[in-house]
Amino acid sequence: MASKIPTQQRALVLQKFGSDIQLQHVPTPQLELGTVIVRVSATTILSYQRGVYDGSRGLYGVPTPLVIGISAIGRVAGLPADATLLEEGQLVYVDCVVRGRDDPSALFLSAIHAGSKSGSKKLMADVYRDGSFAEYMRAPLENCIPLDETRLCKTLGYPIHDLMYMSCLLVSFGGLRDIGLEPGETVVVSPATGNFGGAGVLVAVAMGARVIAMGRNTTELARLKELAERGKPGACVETVPISGDEETDTAALKAFGTIDAVLDLTPPIASKSTHLKSAISALRHSGRVSLMGFPDLSASMWHVVGSNIVMKGKLMYSREDMLLFVKMLERGLFPKAQEFVDTKAFALEQWEEALDVAARHTGLGRQVIFVPEK
Ligand SMILES: NC(=O)c1ccc[n+]([C@@H]2O[C@H](COP(=O)([O-])OP(=O)(O)OC[C@H]3O[C@@H](n4cnc5c(N)ncnc54)[C@H](OP(=O)(O)O)[C@@H]3O)[C@@H](O)[C@H]2O)c1
Repeated sequence: MASKIPTQQRALVLQKFGSDIQLQHVPTPQLELGTVIVRVSATTILSYQRGVYDGSRGLYGVPTPLVIGISAIGRVAGLPADATLLEEGQLVYVDCVVRGRDDPSALFLSAIHAGSKSGSKKLMADVYRDGSFAEYMRAPLENCIPLDETRLCKTLGYPIHDLMYMSCLLVSFGGLRDIGLEPGETVVVSPATGNFGGAGVLVAVAMGARVIAMGRNTTELARLKELAERGKPGACVETVPISGDEETDTAALKAFGTIDAVLDLTPPIASKSTHLKSAISALRHSGRVSLMGFPDLSASMWHVVGSNIVMKGKLMYSREDMLLFVKMLERGLFPKAQEFVDTKAFALEQWEEALDVAARHTGLGRQVIFVPEK
């Protein structure tokens, strides 16, 4: 099955935390039962990926040496004997959330974070250590989500590389589904001007919600409103600038009436900002909060307790979320073709420039990827 796969490949390797990333020739991963070898067509780069590997971001830990990376899109190049659905050559989304088969709570983020359980650390170090910044990668069978290439690329007109943007959209979809966002509800997304926050606005609109986007950058908020409402009758994105004053921002949110839910994507650098406290204070009784970022949560406890506020931490999404999201994408619920995303693509050799651009080219509808194929 895997006979056309070369024995050596190019990959971006991290020898140890804080050391330089190197483009190296390494052995191509071998096919094993329960795994798939994927030829990588595109792989996303996080805005903060450099900080993950130089140690400056603090929250992360991976075994070294390893091939770095995260989620990818590619073609099935090697199939195990226990595959029942996938076919060789098929386009798949390769997800970075790897779960223990005998303990799904032992999960880690491929080549990004080893997770907190001894089982997840063992699984990452011993089995799925290497990531997607390479020509080929090995992934668990269940992490390869089939994509209908004819529908997505021919009928809807998405270039394959642009489909990589689903990795960003999926994060907020996981959070919004986790707190049961319903069509017609109003959700605050904060902050909304970054990669995952901007994507959260687009996803909430596709789910039929009214969105109130909070952010410091008013120019970016205006761009976000225009992009997220474009071509969608009934779509509604309101904006509230983060003023730095908790009460002012609470009043600005309350002016829009009942608020049902909040999606938080606060980066560690903004943990002291008061935007989440304002959003929680503006929530209705029994409102829900999805905590996907890292805020300092000294929220107004009387309001949280007195109003039965539900606050749920959420890491990523489930396989069920991914399958449902792909259906939404294939039905055409997101902007079509070129309006979907502004992709900046780099070869593996250009890794330094790529990581720099990824830190700057952020916000709704922007992504930076590696295209490892020569
Ligand atoms: N739970 C999960 O599964 C999950 C998954 C992925 C990511 N995340 C988390 O999501 C967070 C956001 O990631 P990202 O890629 O979207 O980051 P990003 O593109 O760098 O965006 C950062 C956002 O934070 C805002 N911000 C920065 N400093 C601020 C401050 N002092 N006060 C208020 N706002 C501030 C930025 O606003 P400006 O535009 O004004 O700079 C921007 O909206 C990350 O911390 C990451 O850990 C969680």
